Amino acid sequence: MKTQRVLTGITTSGTPHLGNYVGAIRPTVRASRLAEVESFYFLADYHALIKVGEPARVQRSTLEIAATWLACGLDPERVTFYRQSDIPEIPELTWLLTCVTGKGVLNRAHAYKASVDKNNAAGVDPDSGVTAGLFMYPVLMGADILMFNAHQVPVGRDQIQHIEMARDMAASFNHLYGDHFTLPEAVIEEHVATLPGLDGRKMSKSYDNTIPLFTPRDQLRKLIMGIVTDSRAPGEAKSTEGSALFQLYQAFATPDETAALARAYGEGIAWGDAKLAVFERLDQEIAPMREVYDRLIQDPARIEATLQAGARKARAIATPFTARLREAVGLRRLDSVVAAGPQGRQARSAAPSFKQYREKDGQFYFKFMDATGQLLLQSRGFDSPRQAAQAIASLQQMGMAALNDMQPQLAVQADAEALAAAFAHFQPSAG
Ligand code: TRP
Repeated sequence: MKTQRVLTGITTSGTPHLGNYVGAIRPTVRASRLAEVESFYFLADYHALIKVGEPARVQRSTLEIAATWLACGLDPERVTFYRQSDIPEIPELTWLLTCVTGKGVLNRAHAYKASVDKNNAAGVDPDSGVTAGLFMYPVLMGADILMFNAHQVPVGRDQIQHIEMARDMAASFNHLYGDHFTLPEAVIEEHVATLPGLDGRKMSKSYDNTIPLFTPRDQLRKLIMGIVTDSRAPGEAKSTEGSALFQLYQAFATPDETAALARAYGEGIAWGDAKLAVFERLDQEIAPMREVYDRLIQDPARIEATLQAGARKARAIATPFTARLREAVGLRRLDSVVAAGPQGRQARSAAPSFKQYREKDGQFYFKFMDATGQLLLQSRGFDSPRQAAQAIASLQQMGMAALNDMQPQLAVQADAEALAAAFAHFQPSAG
């Protein structure tokens, strides 16, 4: 079996909490131990600059997140563990990708669109307070992923669109300049429950209801004692359903331990006792890691050295790969011989095409075929030719990013790789 390259990053804008640990850090550290994967984990500090304007906070968060990965068992000998801003090839690749990314695609990115919608609702200029950094966020992320030709990118649901955009960028670039990039896929942890926070809602920085992963033991106890419960008295049976405390326990305990707590709920355990049990169980897993974490945090020089070593490993890939990409796009030394004929647009193969037509049922349809006539998409009927034309236009402009909203209107759909390659023909190209 071919080795799968798995890559993921964490933006260095905060302090890791239990939700990050259960949802992202613990599963990825476990996955990195599998023999058949080659993992790349990095601290996305360029991304942090988009949200955080406090230099000290960016630095502190970078230290905390690096120490967290290491304390949770990431083995820097085994994986490539690095800081994004130590790889100058990444902003360089960002530019190459910028030049094959449709502006209209970026207009539709969720994070940017949310800001615009908010401004529109407030009656101010749509781009008010929006930096070009926020707008370009998906391209920087595309460069992170494509630089190392990752096959799989474990992310939260909110990031799926970004991975689709990275695929589109890869397909466009490959189409123009030859086969350089692997088309990445998002990996979503289906069965990892989102952890509830102190108030019972999803644990999230934006709700201010988080429990920091490596808060001191006393503080952890205090926070767990403060989790919301109902007002049932000791001796009264309690429901596990919708109990934030119970869900928290479940994320750490074995199935047997979880069943035992469920029984105790039924037998009317006092909330205070249940909270103590949850605290002790969590601390049992966290305490040994906390010890390592506290030691690491006291020794930033050692973490720095680890990251420098990681950067050397990452650049051993990124530097030659970037040289190859520069060559491919024509950023070349003048004394090198131009051996090959014209590459790029002239070298394009026959284009895929859209056909719009009317059926006997009076409705309007389109289909999308590749250069060989292979069917890639077949629509259902539209009431008017204009609607069909609009659907075609948005596919031409946005590629894969348009597909999601169009699902109800599609009768036939080829696999994503074939579609991405075909849409690449409609992406703007340099020059
Ligand atoms: N955008 C991701 C987040 O906020 C972090 C990130 C940056 C990332 N670059 C990445 C994740 C590349 C995966 C791959 O969660």
